[in-house]
Amino acid sequence: MTDRPIRVLCLAGSLRRGSWNRRLLHAAATLAPPAVAVEVFDALAAVPLFDEDLELAGPEGPAGVHALRAAIAAADGLLIATPEYNHAMPGALKNALDWLSRESPQGEMLAGRPAAVLGASAGPWGTRLAQASLRQVLHTCGALVMPSPTLFVAHAGQRFDAQGRLADPGLQASLSRFMAAFAAWIERVAVAA
Ligand code: FNR
Repeated sequence: MTDRPIRVLCLAGSLRRGSWNRRLLHAAATLAPPAVAVEVFDALAAVPLFDEDLELAGPEGPAGVHALRAAIAAADGLLIATPEYNHAMPGALKNALDWLSRESPQGEMLAGRPAAVLGASAGPWGTRLAQASLRQVLHTCGALVMPSPTLFVAHAGQRFDAQGRLADPGLQASLSRFMAAFAAWIERVAVAA
């Protein structure tokens, strides 16, 4: 690898302002190893519902899709934090992945791309089923998903302080290990490519 930082683009599968999953990604940015530069993509709401007619309107696709593709293209790895809606990933996230699975002038954005998944929910299971559904779709699209460690954040409402900062030392340590493992995974996959 070169001396430049490993760039990780983070995507939260939630649109709401107070999202635990987005907060988790901002915490991941502060807990990542120094050699990792983390950016949190915050414009998932600008990605329109997938429609093949919109693809026919122009090769670049809608502006919101173009912006997401450009952010992923500029990164070495994609980290997705998913909420769980009805035992699966939210529709907004699946919709974005459907766009990213398509050929475009920027390429097929998930094929061969190092990726990792985690997630937070208010309940006791910590997005196990949502992460399983997300992994399945990422595999289908050719992403190289880090197999382990996994991180299922249950009872998310108890993990953050009033300012939305991660305030659980055990989870901070797990997240720090997760980010170090993802950096190693990105380097490993890049060497194998
Ligand atoms: C949920 N939630 C939820 N939680 C869970 O553990 N399993 C589930 O199947 C569901 N299903 C579900 C459906 C819908 C439509 C909503 C709106 C919510 C609760 C959900 O995990 C919780 O709202 C999280 O806080 C959402 O993540 P963000 O927005 O905080 O990132």
